[in-house]
Amino acid sequence: MTKTKIDVTLSATRKEKPKSDQLEFGRVFTDHMFVMDYSPAKGWHDPKIVPYEPITLSPASMVFHYGQTVFEGLKAYRTKEDKVLLFRPEKNMERLNLSNDRLCIPRIDGEFVIEALKQLVSIEKDWIPTAEGTSLYIRPFIIPTEYYLGVAPSKFYRFMIILSPVGSYYKEGIHPVKIYVENHYVRAVEGGTGKAKTGGNYASSLRAQEEAAQKGYSQVLWLDGVEKKYIEEVGSMNIFFKINGEVVTPEVNGSILEGVTRKSILELLKSWETPVSERKISMEEVYQAYKDGQLEEAFGTGTAAVISPIGEFLYDDNKIVINNGETGELSKKLYDTLTGIQKGTKQDPFNWVT
Ligand code: COI
Repeated sequence: MTKTKIDVTLSATRKEKPKSDQLEFGRVFTDHMFVMDYSPAKGWHDPKIVPYEPITLSPASMVFHYGQTVFEGLKAYRTKEDKVLLFRPEKNMERLNLSNDRLCIPRIDGEFVIEALKQLVSIEKDWIPTAEGTSLYIRPFIIPTEYYLGVAPSKFYRFMIILSPVGSYYKEGIHPVKIYVENHYVRAVEGGTGKAKTGGNYASSLRAQEEAAQKGYSQVLWLDGVEKKYIEEVGSMNIFFKINGEVVTPEVNGSILEGVTRKSILELLKSWETPVSERKISMEEVYQAYKDGQLEEAFGTGTAAVISPIGEFLYDDNKIVINNGETGELSKKLYDTLTGIQKGTKQDPFNWVT
């Protein structure tokens, strides 16, 4: 791995920036991007920041065939004092290397990539929106670039970071969504790639998502791939329940993605001395808690939406309505605290922000 200087070529032209109140998620990209290549002879080499532009690859590039890809997602915020804040970027780098290991992609030097990321974000500082609910979404990713149709790890790779100014994941900020409990398709199994952030996991989730949408549901709740009994994730997010005063989230088991938001919420709840446990939790247990009047809240957690409250589940033919379909107190408090820390408007006792 290289520690050489990052070459910077600035774009001769600048794109018009979108209005803060019209931002969607992931549709607009900034003027520059970071690129670095890997070869067996040189390792990761030639890191550079260049104008954002399409890349040219042979149709035989392995990226187009067998899905050996990994990615990350994190956000930058700009404070009133014009400081740029990143939230726990080292956690994303740790997870990127975990994904790399699983997908047979050479590890990256996390510290070096964070430096590159800081340089790129500071060049694009003016692209960081400041309106409520907006941020600059950072998407690091690695693709295999060898021209070869054999099924084997690629010998060559490209690492890139692109940036996208984004609005809140849901237009209304945080608002409860309806979730279909998926009883046919599964997202991942232990021993599979569920704990890695790799494109295939998202591709294979689309069919279930489409069918749930046709039934009027925003996302699916994924159950374990063996018994279809225990809860794993919701859409592309981790999931939490509040049952009779205790907060419960499925324990990481090899098929669940270990979210940075999930981890931060667990740490926050522990610091508030809220009873919290990471354990197996079945859909039957959630349904029983609902029938007993003890299911107080449910919410998804992830970088993109931060907290996404769940207002309703469809579980077989049973409708489970939570908190009258409204955002619960804990969901709101977690959202306000976490986004406050991320934006620099709330104290950061954990030193999460860089
Ligand atoms: C997130 O919640 O940040 C995700 O993983 C969704 C992302 C793939 C858009």
